[in-house]
Amino acid sequence: LKFPEPRPAIANPELIRPSWTTTNARDPELLWLDKNENADPVLAGIVADVLASIPRETLYSYPDAAPLYRKLARYLGIAPDNLLLSAGSDGAIRAVFEAFIEPGDVVIHTQPTFAMYAVYSRMYGADARPLAYRPSDTGPVLDCDNVVRAINTLSPKLVCLPNPDSPTGTVFEPDRMRHIVEAAGSAGALMLVDEAYYPFHNGPVLPWIADYPHLVVVRSTGKAWGLAGFRIGYAAASRELAKLLHKVRAMYETNTVAIAVFERMLDRENEMWASVERLNKGKAFFLDRMEAMGFRVLRGAGNFLHVAFGTKANGIHSGLADMVYYRKDFSDACLRGFSRFSATTRELFTPVVERIAKVIR
Ligand SMILES: Cc1ncc(COP(=O)(O)O)c(C=O)c1O
Repeated sequence: LKFPEPRPAIANPELIRPSWTTTNARDPELLWLDKNENADPVLAGIVADVLASIPRETLYSYPDAAPLYRKLARYLGIAPDNLLLSAGSDGAIRAVFEAFIEPGDVVIHTQPTFAMYAVYSRMYGADARPLAYRPSDTGPVLDCDNVVRAINTLSPKLVCLPNPDSPTGTVFEPDRMRHIVEAAGSAGALMLVDEAYYPFHNGPVLPWIADYPHLVVVRSTGKAWGLAGFRIGYAAASRELAKLLHKVRAMYETNTVAIAVFERMLDRENEMWASVERLNKGKAFFLDRMEAMGFRVLRGAGNFLHVAFGTKANGIHSGLADMVYYRKDFSDACLRGFSRFSATTRELFTPVVERIAKVIR
């Protein structure tokens, strides 16, 4: 007996997913600055209190997300039917692919970027056309004109653009972004602007959903809100587009606990902003210290930063091994030689700075 053939896109040997049986558990004794989470202890304490305040019936009941739709819409200044809640912003990105991408459709995404753009392109059989950032003295660069040219020549079904992008930390200024969004519209493409890192970068794009029916903006709660483990994010789009995205949703967008926690955290918005400020200060502190030690740094947007340790890299990597998880290097030419640290508070960065100083002394 044999099972039937899966969809050709799923049979594709290039569609590879990480193992689900080997553990990648991190040591709680170390600092976790490798996945762009929010490791701010003050915010984590607030989230823990909010979690503890959730009533028992939340745990045994099926989700009712309507109150969160209404509250989040008010918070964003849009209507509830402009919104799709999702399992992380990743879930919203997948919904866009699921609703729109058929085998052979051209998808434009940047390179390097959030890994799931390439994965979903394969999963839905898209003809992915990555646009590579080029290296420069100021870090990775992708010209707006290149993006617009690709849109005009490749006839994409979907254009995916994180702003800020990860891992590059690059942003398109509002006028460039509008140019790209309009080029996608003129080419008949759907435009996905990924604002996972909002409000570390406060982009202007979300309200544009009122003007552009082909625009989807996705946002994460895993970064600024410190809720990465809850798996809740959202997409905002025109009513017509949001309605299509709802057609492909699972029975429930996400779980009751995530809905309850995010709903309560919206009342604590000031605490989120205070955490963003602490992380931005910690990031500036760490970058200043690294520059003072003579290392090249990239001051990109997002809750992360890059340092090139140059000839000292091996010594520093071994010196930090028992202290902090971070991304040591990149294979992409535009970030080769740079290590990436997620932003954390000045207090938590201080021992890392001291250790690096000790290693290079
Ligand atoms: C650019 C970008 N988009 C989306 C995501 C997914 O975030 P989440 O699914 O946790 O909301 C990430 C996570 O790192 C990201 O970097």
